[in-house]
Amino acid sequence: MRIVMIGSGYVGLVSGACFADFGHHVTCVDKDANKIARLQAGGIPIYEPGLDDLVARNVAAGNLAFTTELSEAVGAADVVFIAVGTPSRRGDGHADLSYVHDAAREIAGALSGFTVIVTKSTVPVGTGDEVERIVRECNPAAEFAVASNPEFLREGAAIEDFKRPDRVVIGIEDARARAPMEEVYRPLSLNKAPIVFTSRRTSELIKYAANAFLAMKITYINEMADLCEQVGADVQEVASGIGLDNRIGAKFLNAGPGYGGSCFPKDTLALMKTAQDHDAPLRLIEATVAVNEQRKRAMGRKVIAAMNGQVRGRTVAVLGLTFKPNTDDMRDAPSIAIIQTLQDAGAKVRAYDPEGMDAAKAVLSDVEYASSAYAAAEGAAATVIVTEWDAFRALDLARLKAAMAEPVLVDLRNIYPPARAEEAGLRYVGIGRPGQPADEAEAANERHAA
Ligand SMILES: NC(=O)c1ccc[n+]([C@@H]2O[C@H](COP(=O)([O-])OP(=O)(O)OC[C@H]3O[C@@H](n4cnc5c(N)ncnc54)[C@H](O)[C@@H]3O)[C@@H](O)[C@H]2O)c1
Repeated sequence: MRIVMIGSGYVGLVSGACFADFGHHVTCVDKDANKIARLQAGGIPIYEPGLDDLVARNVAAGNLAFTTELSEAVGAADVVFIAVGTPSRRGDGHADLSYVHDAAREIAGALSGFTVIVTKSTVPVGTGDEVERIVRECNPAAEFAVASNPEFLREGAAIEDFKRPDRVVIGIEDARARAPMEEVYRPLSLNKAPIVFTSRRTSELIKYAANAFLAMKITYINEMADLCEQVGADVQEVASGIGLDNRIGAKFLNAGPGYGGSCFPKDTLALMKTAQDHDAPLRLIEATVAVNEQRKRAMGRKVIAAMNGQVRGRTVAVLGLTFKPNTDDMRDAPSIAIIQTLQDAGAKVRAYDPEGMDAAKAVLSDVEYASSAYAAAEGAAATVIVTEWDAFRALDLARLKAAMAEPVLVDLRNIYPPARAEEAGLRYVGIGRPGQPADEAEAANERHAA
């Protein structure tokens, strides 16, 4: 199959490279000339484990190419995927579909022969109808069908997720789209990955329903962690106790600083807005969005409490900036709100992240960047683990303590057993674990407020 991927970001680049690896001929297009120049020169504009090898191998095999010029590639394509961004629209939280609509107009002018246009971007219900209308309006003679094929890959494990998905969802209205889409995913169906064909609107909603459910599950365990702190229970044990129930499942039950990233925050918001517009408000998702939003700054206040309110002019070491490990993606990372809360209280922030510091520099100001976790902790009054990179899982805690001015470790990912940290002489504060200095922290907060 000849495939064109419009948008060569986290999703377009990974999907394009994986389709090329299946043996298809793939052209990845992007408007960003720097990104394309870098790809053409053999570079990778994002950090995603294994992507450099996959891209290099398929470029060398002649299956994968990059361009800023959409027309020639689209003219020759059997299937054109739209994988452009759908960020939150400024002001109202609906998905901003301007990139999708622009891409549809550009594709329309370049179509030649029957082509399947597929939205891989996460788009609200009805977007496929609108893409179809735009293409028909721009090019009434075009022979095409519009399908929906949402992407479920996770950054950091994107290639594995793409090649071994739990399921592939394909929404079609025009039966002519079915055979080409089956052909595109044939290697996965040979591997017995479930391929679910459904209507286009259902497919569009499946993506949002899945992300909103996962966001709700995380938020649920996060609230449970707050309760654990108040009643002296351990959220890790609560999570495994409930996760062993197959109806609940053990995944996505790690309490932490709140969800962030390029998908959950904008997708929960967009779904909430769609539901309100259709007079079918999703109260659970509205609560999820509100709870998660306030949690991030609450995590900053948790650090301040662990420091007994003594923050002004003192250095806080922040380990991990990206919204999760194994990515350089800083979009809506909880670290942003946590760091701002600490800075608002007068703290100096020194941070270290294995891959995210370049991206962080674009969104954070007044942060000093260190070359390692230990360098970040030098002279700090507290060290906060915000993202659970492997590099932070086996720190020499005695060395960390020796570097710090005050031995306070706030572990917002619960990666250390409290006893181990305490053995190293650190005062340990985790999430939803016994031994939380809840009363002490409250008293400190009051002192701080006074
Ligand atoms: N990042 C994820 O983990 C993930 C997972 C599943 C789904 N999604 C969805 O996939 C979509 C893309 O997300 P992403 O993270 O890859 O975004 P991204 O911002 O990394 O990439 C989008 C790319 O599209 C390019 N672009 C925009 N308009 C264009 C046009 N008209 N022609 C050519 N290129 C154009 C941009 O320059 C950018 O490089 C979003 O809808 C997102 O919600 C993302």
